[in-house]
Amino acid sequence: MKTFYITTAIDYVNGSPHLGHAYEKVLTDVIARFRRLMGDQVYFLTGVDEHGQKVQQSAKKRGIDPQAFCDEVSQEFRAMCAKLDISNDDFIRTTEPRHKAVVSRLLQQLFDQGEIYKAEYKGFYSTRQEQFLQEKDRQPDGSWPEIFGEVTEITESNYFFKLAKYQDWLIQFLKDNDDFIFPRYRQKQVLEFLAEPLNDLCISRPKERLEWGIPLPFDAGYVTYVWFDALVNYYSAVEDKPGIWPADFHVIGKDILVPPHAVYWPIMLKACGLPTPKSILAHGWWSINGTKMSKSTGNFVEPMAFAEQYGVDALRFFMIREMSVGQDSDFSLNQFLARYNSELANNLGNLVNRTLNMTNRFGGGVVPASGASAAEIAADAALAPERELRALWEKTRAEFIALNEGFQFHIALERAFAFVTATNRYVEQRAPWKLGKSTEPADQALLKTSLATMAEALRLGATLLPAVMPSTTEKIYAVIGYAPAGTWRDRLVWGETLTGAKVAETAILFPRPQAPEAGAAKV
Ligand code: MSP
Repeated sequence: MKTFYITTAIDYVNGSPHLGHAYEKVLTDVIARFRRLMGDQVYFLTGVDEHGQKVQQSAKKRGIDPQAFCDEVSQEFRAMCAKLDISNDDFIRTTEPRHKAVVSRLLQQLFDQGEIYKAEYKGFYSTRQEQFLQEKDRQPDGSWPEIFGEVTEITESNYFFKLAKYQDWLIQFLKDNDDFIFPRYRQKQVLEFLAEPLNDLCISRPKERLEWGIPLPFDAGYVTYVWFDALVNYYSAVEDKPGIWPADFHVIGKDILVPPHAVYWPIMLKACGLPTPKSILAHGWWSINGTKMSKSTGNFVEPMAFAEQYGVDALRFFMIREMSVGQDSDFSLNQFLARYNSELANNLGNLVNRTLNMTNRFGGGVVPASGASAAEIAADAALAPERELRALWEKTRAEFIALNEGFQFHIALERAFAFVTATNRYVEQRAPWKLGKSTEPADQALLKTSLATMAEALRLGATLLPAVMPSTTEKIYAVIGYAPAGTWRDRLVWGETLTGAKVAETAILFPRPQAPEAGAAKV
């Protein structure tokens, strides 16, 4: 069985991690965890991009050596992954020898194959984007768009990779693999980009201008262009591990799809004679309170502080519940708190509390065997509420899996929480607190049925959540006395799983959040 190999973009270490970085890790983690639940063997890579002008400049500003600077900032990214419960198997840094060796080797191979040539370049260069510009990049009034920062005219000799030669191959590849990019409409954007002739890619920077990079193996006067270096991380991290390459999914933001991931990367691999990745998932961007994220305006979310204050699972839940994969979304504390209260605390948290409370009051703290058999529930008109809840479960389970397979995690979560809502409604309808006061045998049987039903429904609801809220699922399992066994799909089957389980007295899963002004995390 081939390992399901999934990666995130590797983040620039020129600043601290922010919400956009956190989202991408969590989204990728949800996919990785879901695939593991489905029985796949998964390899999950993340890491940091440490070379290039931006990092060199940031280190200079701090007055420290770039390597020391990278050592420090990369730690923050690693710590963020740990804090957010990211289940990555590896964390790669592009300054590591294992990565540099592969980049050098591939460059040398391409050079030997005649895929790289030296030429004089005269034209405009954007330092901020570390990129050569073309006439078509100008705005209608002739000026350069703001994203390029300061643009200077330069003349220099550089090394070029023969990208243009592969243009027709790439177009055909995209036509043959029409699901290469998710969401699909982005594949059209790539083809539109390829409607114009490609230029060869400048893959070197003279040392006088940029020192902080991997030296070209065939000319020590130059370092490697940061994108040529960075993209190789996906391969260098697993080259020595059999059965992993090619990647099944590269998860990236929409800003770095065209041209780096959808054009440079498949062509680089093709030229090296290596298999191309199977797919790329391009997610949207978060804005904060309706505006672009920016440190200078304070419109910023520090994921570690936020998770510390409101809970790791609550943050993971919000990001996945709020954003439709591929679309943009807005992050606001009000919207976060609204979902926290209505979906987590008052819906799921409430069901947990009720289940524990009712089981303790009327079952002596032990989940009773149902007062009605599965056959009776299927046939007896008086047991319609139990029957309907089971039918809803069957539908929810099937839809949840299908939606997750299609990356519709936000709708999948909505369905999971609709099942929790329906279970709360069921509890109100059965009102075990009323049945508990009656000594009638029929009421006593129904009381047992209702306690068993609510506990089983809660167990199943929680079993839908581990990809998004891993520790919440574990906490719920612990308080309902459930020791999971078998495959995930086995655990999703309605049964008498919890009969005889000892439940906890109380649980606080989602404490009332502190008032925003009291906390450290600013939104
Ligand atoms: N170093 C390159 C990627 C190299 S991959 C071989 C880079 N780094 S980055 O730090 O600028 O961005 C890392 C990832 O974070 C990108 O996928 C980017 O789209 C994502 N995000 C950055 N800001 C974001 C938001 N505001 N919202 C969501 N994701 C965003 O690009």
